[in-house]
Amino acid sequence: MAKKRVLSGIRATGRLHLGNYLGAVSGMLVLQENPEYETFYMVADLHTLTTPYDPQTLKDDIREVVLDYLAAGLDPEKSTIFVQSQVPEHLELAYLFSTAVSIARMQHLPTYKDKVKQYPQGNTMALLYYPVLMAADILVYRADSVPVGIDQEPHLEVAREIARKMNLEYGTNFPEPKRFATKGEYIPALTGEGKMSKSVEGSFINLTDGLETIKKRLAAAPTDSGKGETVPEKGGVANLLSLVELFEGKEKREEYKKAYTGAGISYSELKEGLAKAIDEELKPIQERRKKFEENSALVDKILQEGAKKARKVARENLEETKKAMGLI
Ligand code: TYM
Repeated sequence: MAKKRVLSGIRATGRLHLGNYLGAVSGMLVLQENPEYETFYMVADLHTLTTPYDPQTLKDDIREVVLDYLAAGLDPEKSTIFVQSQVPEHLELAYLFSTAVSIARMQHLPTYKDKVKQYPQGNTMALLYYPVLMAADILVYRADSVPVGIDQEPHLEVAREIARKMNLEYGTNFPEPKRFATKGEYIPALTGEGKMSKSVEGSFINLTDGLETIKKRLAAAPTDSGKGETVPEKGGVANLLSLVELFEGKEKREEYKKAYTGAGISYSELKEGLAKAIDEELKPIQERRKKFEENSALVDKILQEGAKKARKVARENLEETKKAMGLI
């Protein structure tokens, strides 16, 4: 039986943080190890152009994501690892897909509205087009499973709508892709507000951070007196407890919750323990990263072969779509 396909990607906006790792990369790793799936993992460099970026550093930023992928355990023997713009079939399919969605539908997406609010000067066609290109990224491989964080759900809904519409109008056979969720589908910000995000300073911990940096970042996370009648469900303390659960387990979280309504929590101890637990998880990733950082020819080769393999599959599916649409 043909293997089911998986596709995921991350924009090249700098080094990956714990949100990217727990929300997306950990799911990519699970599916990579499952022999029922064929996995395609890319750096979404074209999507990086939808918000302000520096052309001088883009190549380095792309490389950082590739290094973080390989460091985290994405394995070129098991997964096809590539850079989005090196497979131009994505763009061609995206244009064809744009005939199947309305402008109004795109304008109403919460992700689009948030970005326009964040960058009022950057309300471009590319930004509006973001979900269409993302649908093409996925469906050019006929992938039906997409490991991403919960914030990407609106985009997957669009991909499903496009698949349905294309199948109905042109008799194509696109699957309706579903999100592959992980335990860390929403990692909160250290600042106590919203999600961990690259664009919010002080909100994140990077995969490349050492123990001292992790401690410093956690030290700045807001807390309270450590004692009260009910444990906060929102804000800095709640977010720290979520991280405790993810890195030290549910029982540890329960212990702290009991302490909060009893003798009180010592946040310096909590942060010390959490920093160590995060560091333990990140150390092997950082060790692996070093090996790839020192071997840039190997990384080049991985990306070249990845693009070649990806293009082969992408081209076939693009051709079929063009045929169905009457172009060839
Ligand atoms: P990007 O770079 O914005 O996000 C990368 C991935 O990290 C996840 N993520 C989080 N997960 C949990 N908690 C957080 N705090 C957190 N912050 C980020 C995001 O959900 C995402 O999975 N649009 C995609 C890139 C993309 C793509 C695709 C993904 C382009 N084409 C096709 C899948 C399939 C994105 O959000 O990148």
